[in-house]
Amino acid sequence: MASISLRNIVKRYGHGPKANQVIHGVNAEIHDGEFVVIVGPSGCGKSTLLRMVAGLEEISGGEIAIGSRVVNQLEPAERDIAMVFQNYALYPHMSVFDNMAYGLKIAKVPKDEIKTRVDKAAKILELGHLLERKPRELSGGQRQRVAMGRAIVRQPQVFLFDEPLSNLDAKLRAQTRLEIQKLHRELGITSLFVTHDQVEAMTLAQRMIVMNGGNMEQFGTPEEVYHRPASTFVASFIGAPPMNLLQQAPGGKPGQTLGIRPEHLDVVASEGWELHVDTVELLGAERLIYARLGDEPLIVRVEEGASAPLPGSTLRVRPREDRLHWFDASTGKRL
Ligand SMILES: Nc1ncnc2c1ncn2[C@@H]1O[C@H](COP(=O)(O)OP(=O)(O)O)[C@@H](O)[C@H]1O
Ligand SMILES: [Mg+2]
Repeated sequence: MASISLRNIVKRYGHGPKANQVIHGVNAEIHDGEFVVIVGPSGCGKSTLLRMVAGLEEISGGEIAIGSRVVNQLEPAERDIAMVFQNYALYPHMSVFDNMAYGLKIAKVPKDEIKTRVDKAAKILELGHLLERKPRELSGGQRQRVAMGRAIVRQPQVFLFDEPLSNLDAKLRAQTRLEIQKLHRELGITSLFVTHDQVEAMTLAQRMIVMNGGNMEQFGTPEEVYHRPASTFVASFIGAPPMNLLQQAPGGKPGQTLGIRPEHLDVVASEGWELHVDTVELLGAERLIYARLGDEPLIVRVEEGASAPLPGSTLRVRPREDRLHWFDASTGKRL
């Protein structure tokens, strides 16, 4: 196993005046055995960053080390990593066993060693009874497990995942998420996992890197990112519905943006802020009240048992003092 160091990583596509810089100096130390999620909207550079760690993209600036080895100049095969993609492209004419064994055969690993490793991976992934099947005889979730098996048998120092669950339906995605967690508990292999889905990030990550436009906005545990977002971008990207961001909050200071999460506004009978209610949504265990404070939109989250205000009515809420977040209005950074 190994740590991963990203030191001032820069990526430009193309050369000369037409070059397009898409990663602007990312620094992060991923510990040995840690499960780190890279999360951010589409196009922010997640795959590019992961592919540079894998050796599938050249690094334009900075240094990547896996363990104590700087890998900038190493071929993917020399980096001791295994990657699982969204499109896991199994060989259709090969059995599950052969799909998992293929890379090891190419690497001339002895036959009984291959069998031992495939059997062990199949056991962990509960694929033991499917080893003779062809990919077309498997469900989507089983195929994705074979793709993970193919990575496990390599016994790499590092796992790299690029949105591996995106092709699965919601239920299977949640289930496979649990399997990946279990896999990480059992094998303890340093993992970098890319997703655009903040729920997936929050549930899988030991720590997460939040990316925005080629910059790292924050690197922290899910708790830190949720409770102490480093910027208005992180505040609105993590958490659904997002944190309310107000420019003209009562008691606010000029040049500061106030952030307050929808669940940290208590409905009160008098005083507090007076809101105008636009619509109310029932989401099973809770209701979302879409309202306005002056002309700024605001969402309030209440339990489903609480009475629902009527659209067009007014509602009073009090923000919890210890849950207020202040950001610099011009830079968006936390104050
Ligand atoms: N091969 C490429 N050539 C030129 N630009 C690219 C290439 N791959 C990605 N990009 C650009 O780099 C940026 C980051 O892309 P990517 O890393 O794929 O984002 P993400 O995985 O977060 O969706 C995007 O603006 C994308 O258009
Ligand atoms: Mg991507």
